[in-house]
Amino acid sequence: MTEIIISLKNKVQINLRHISLKDIQKRHEFFVNLSLAQTGMVHTVDEIEFHTHETEEKIKDFLYNKRGLWVIACDSHGNVIGEIDIIKKNLVRIRHNGLLTIGILPEFQNLGLGTLLMEYALVWAKEQGFLRVELSVFAGNTAAKKLYKKFAFIIEGIRKNYLHHADDIFEDDLMLAKYFFENNPNSDNQLKK
Ligand SMILES: CC(C)(COP(=O)(O)OP(=O)(O)OC[C@H]1O[C@@H](n2cnc3c(N)ncnc32)[C@H](O)[C@@H]1OP(=O)(O)O)[C@@H](O)C(=O)NCCC(=O)NCCS
Repeated sequence: MTEIIISLKNKVQINLRHISLKDIQKRHEFFVNLSLAQTGMVHTVDEIEFHTHETEEKIKDFLYNKRGLWVIACDSHGNVIGEIDIIKKNLVRIRHNGLLTIGILPEFQNLGLGTLLMEYALVWAKEQGFLRVELSVFAGNTAAKKLYKKFAFIIEGIRKNYLHHADDIFEDDLMLAKYFFENNPNSDNQLKK
């Protein structure tokens, strides 16, 4: 992929391309903004890294070690507004697994971008020979669960009370996976809602 131009449901055009070293600053700004929105994020606002250092290390490690797929979505000003990645595991016995994460800024959500990024990433994963793509999602993240259900991810496990929001308010974390096996060995645990 050099660059793909897609049109969202509101007709806004977005560029999709693979991450590169020139994206450090913009990707950092994106991550801070996504973190400030808090949905689907583990860290609190106080724990956000406000320096580019962490993003720089992450991108360099990803590129130099060929960790997998990392696609960014940019608006017409060149700002990163979304991303998806699938990280490979290198050990022989687990290298058929990919770990997927996705995030889109609030003003660009529910416009079809998550679906387009997911379609692209899962085609890539299948072509790469992955047999299983995994991710985790907070039980209360309705939008994300809808997206994953659409792509036939199933529930493999639940980390009960994984998140501690406040006092006695906890939230479960769901561990999901999508299979590319001919016969899905785990097709029973459909994601309900
Ligand atoms: C989860 C996320 C990636 C979904 O991306 P998106 O671009 O909004 O998804 P789409 O527009 O392609 O919508 C996918 C489905 O979810 C539904 N959906 C999207 N936003 C929704 C919302 N706020 N409430 C209910 N359903 C929603 C859409 O209706 C669509 O279903 P349909 O195709 O049957 O109509 C995006 O909301 C996001 O980045 N959220 C914040 C970070 C996050 O939660 N990341 C995932 C962590 S596990």
